[in-house]
Amino acid sequence: MRVNGLDEKLDVEPWVSLLDALRERLGLTGPKKGCDQGACGACTVLADGVRINACLALAVQYAGKEITTIEGIATGDEPHPLQAAFVRHDGFQCGYCTSGQICSAVGMLAEHAAGMPSIVGAEELSEAEIRERMSGNLCRCGAYNGIVDAIKEVAS
Ligand code: FES
Ligand code: FES
Repeated sequence: MRVNGLDEKLDVEPWVSLLDALRERLGLTGPKKGCDQGACGACTVLADGVRINACLALAVQYAGKEITTIEGIATGDEPHPLQAAFVRHDGFQCGYCTSGQICSAVGMLAEHAAGMPSIVGAEELSEAEIRERMSGNLCRCGAYNGIVDAIKEVAS
């Protein structure tokens, strides 16, 4: 697979999750293992631009795909606008959920731009709309206000 712009050749057992392959084999520890069962979003990465829970994905399913983790979303020394906005708005406390939050927000903004609906159904990315679309990413520190403000700023 291609990970953060680099071709990576991995020989993994068929039951190895994408999360374990990224963390244990490639040393990419940005994606976090919170629940390991699809409940928290800490492991969120982008696969061909679509956000996924890497703990629920088998690495072998993603052979040949383009995977982007938090380590790969900046441009050189220039942080991604969402990374900069999270810093500006204090969108974290301990930081454990942050890489998943930011990768998820990148995918969420692309989904919204592509016209994918949410249950809230607002066309604009209102606060309620952002909270709904980001509801798969939990923050045990409760930094939700800063997270939403950061995403709102970038979306606008
Ligand atoms: S570690 Fe994947 S959703 Fe929690
Ligand atoms: S910043 Fe601590 S879990 Fe979100």
